[in-house]
Amino acid sequence: MTALKNDRFLRALLKQPVDVTPVWMMRQAGRYLPEYRASRAKAGDFMSLCMNPQFACEVTMQPLDRYPQLDAAILFSDILTIPDAMGQGLYFETGEGPRFKKVVSTLADIEALPIPDPQKDLGYVMDAVSTIRRELNGRVPLIGFSGSPWTLATYMVEGGSSKDFRKTKAMLYDNPHAMHLLLDKLAQSVTAYLNGQILAGAQAVQIFDTWGGNLSAAAYQEFSLAYMRKIVSGLIREHEGRQVPVILFTKNGGLWLESIADAGADALGLDWTCDIGNARERVGHKVALQGNMDPTVLYAKPEAIRAEVGRILASYGKGSGHVFNLGHGITPEVDPEHAGAFLRAVHELSAQYHD
Ligand code: CP3
Repeated sequence: MTALKNDRFLRALLKQPVDVTPVWMMRQAGRYLPEYRASRAKAGDFMSLCMNPQFACEVTMQPLDRYPQLDAAILFSDILTIPDAMGQGLYFETGEGPRFKKVVSTLADIEALPIPDPQKDLGYVMDAVSTIRRELNGRVPLIGFSGSPWTLATYMVEGGSSKDFRKTKAMLYDNPHAMHLLLDKLAQSVTAYLNGQILAGAQAVQIFDTWGGNLSAAAYQEFSLAYMRKIVSGLIREHEGRQVPVILFTKNGGLWLESIADAGADALGLDWTCDIGNARERVGHKVALQGNMDPTVLYAKPEAIRAEVGRILASYGKGSGHVFNLGHGITPEVDPEHAGAFLRAVHELSAQYHD
């Protein structure tokens, strides 16, 4: 394997010294880029991009080619590949988000779910990872990812996106045994899937717990964090002679940072509702932090974006352990020029915080 030419993302996750604060954007390959929309039209639809390693590689590279400031690539795929591999039949209705042909409703449904084999059932993702690694040729590290068991369970039980998670919450409180069985199967599936990605060439992994923050404090511990902890303890942490850092991102998890920092990961992703300087005081001795600009700031003019980047860098302060990112994914309406202004500002304004 080729040596990494830019490893500041991996170094910051391990709190090793860096020259400037590394930066990437959640959903950096996506609909705000005209070149992405062209590739999607060529492939036919979103899932065809994910399932064809050449297309997945093409769209992963698009933001890197446009923005030389990006310090990491992220595998182009989706968190819902796992429920699809469990036999639920994932499809996307234009403008309506993800849907499943089969919904999980009863204990019997859960008992019947298989644990997917990464090579046999999700081989297209493993092939995408190795294809992208080859194409990157050491330019920047590649991030692999998965959804958290709780976040995946919400889609599997609701049959798609939801505002109130009515069915999932009812199952949690009416039938905690069934919910625990589902989450346990998902934790086993995610562990095998992420280890497969690491062996195929992912150099860091992120677990997206997009809906963990929707739980009560007690339910979060029992139904989301416990399963992420289990996954982290089963992950391969060193590969190709380097540590493979793990990032946990619970959206709206700001109230629980201390316990998330105890789950065994190297870094926490922060949404924009917390102050990053305060988060550093609370957990910075244990983990690195990734985040946390409100993605809607990108609707503002470049000068305002730059000011907000400066404010977040100053709040974190001097030293390593910060990976700059948005607090959630970049939205389709953002002007690509504004994303460029954001990325440039991070490198230009952060040198003063590093020796
Ligand atoms: O960050 C990246 O660039 C990597 C790619 C990535 C996608 N989805 C591509 C995608 C990642 C990391 C995800 C994760 C994902 N998928 C999450 C967790 C992260 C988060 O955003 O909270 C979730 C909840 C999903 C499920 C999912 N996939 C939803 C709800 C949707 C519809 C969203 C929408 O805006 O319509 C998707 C589709 C999806 N995944 C798109 C992309 C680029 C848009 C599909 C399209 O091209 O039409």
